[in-house]
Amino acid sequence: MSELPADFTILALETSCDETAAAIVRGGREVISNVVASQMATHERYGGVVPEIASRQHILSLAPVVRAALAALPNGWEGIDAIAATHGPGLSGALLTGLNAAKAMAWQRGLPFVAVNHLEAHLYAGWLGSDPPPPFPLVALLVSGGHTLLALIRDHGDYELLGQTRDDAAGEAFDKVARILGLGYPGGPAIQAAAAKATPGGMLPRAWLRDSFDFSFSGLKTAVLHRVQDRLAQMTRLSGRKGAAEAPQLDAAFVAQMAYAFQESVVDVLVTKTVDAAPRYEARAILLAGGVAANRRLREELARRASVPVRLPALDLCTDNAAMVAAAAFYRFQAGVQHGWDTDVTANLPLGSV
Ligand code: KG4
Ligand code: ZN
Repeated sequence: MSELPADFTILALETSCDETAAAIVRGGREVISNVVASQMATHERYGGVVPEIASRQHILSLAPVVRAALAALPNGWEGIDAIAATHGPGLSGALLTGLNAAKAMAWQRGLPFVAVNHLEAHLYAGWLGSDPPPPFPLVALLVSGGHTLLALIRDHGDYELLGQTRDDAAGEAFDKVARILGLGYPGGPAIQAAAAKATPGGMLPRAWLRDSFDFSFSGLKTAVLHRVQDRLAQMTRLSGRKGAAEAPQLDAAFVAQMAYAFQESVVDVLVTKTVDAAPRYEARAILLAGGVAANRRLREELARRASVPVRLPALDLCTDNAAMVAAAAFYRFQAGVQHGWDTDVTANLPLGSV
């Protein structure tokens, strides 16, 4: 392992899903610029990300996003020492746009290039702006739209998977339940907002999967679906409108109550398993990462129940961004990793693979 200069500056791209992002990070932890062009509005009407549309939009957004990120450096390109991009996991077509753009820029500028694992990048959001950096060993809970996993991080790049979801990812469950409740996309922020309006109370099941750090959220999603179907049937009976032209609408109080009970159930299982894992693996801290790490209840409960310090990335660094990619790249470069021009995307790249 060779020490990089403390001011080693990386330009990184992130295009694994529906955000086109470019960022510049100095020394692995100082964010110089962090630009994200969200495609959320484009995909909202479909209730989820449409891969082909995402790839096309990345191609349109990449150049302006890179230009905006570089504008933060007085000497522009002269201030960049290396380039990085996500190469998996994610949507293949979407990944290809950012990976190829980054390789082309690195080749043209004669700069070193490293390809980054998106899951590892989420974890490295915990290094951004942190002083001192997170201490090893760490127990990390990574909860995003595509993944839910609990990992032990012994050192940079040294991971042990302790558990993962057996069905839906936590963010995916938020998105699917939001759709069942008629709330918007993405579901996480919509559920959080609806839950805040509920009177606390009401229980939904929790899948504990005893003696395992694995998770399961699909039963919870089905429980919400059944409650909604019962409620709609009850409303139809009460209004005597069976067979009426327009379907009954869920009332806001019921939606808020379901959102609340769903969020409590997810947060309880995630937090319980994470705080149990920390002492078992003698972790010096817990790290929370991924889009669902932006959830207010999850952040509060984890901090309240943990017996070791909890590292919570800033909200805008939880959801997809390129600053976290640059941070992960810094520590990979430091470990001597570089990638060639033949590097390809890997849609299902596991944590620990680069
Ligand atoms: O990490 P991310 O931006 O993309 C993936 O790599 O998947 O995560 C997106 C996920 C979505 O499922 C979204 O609903 C969820 O993160 N999310 C939240 C919140 N903000 C975003 N879930 C719960 N509460 C939030 N406040
Ligand atoms: Zn992500």
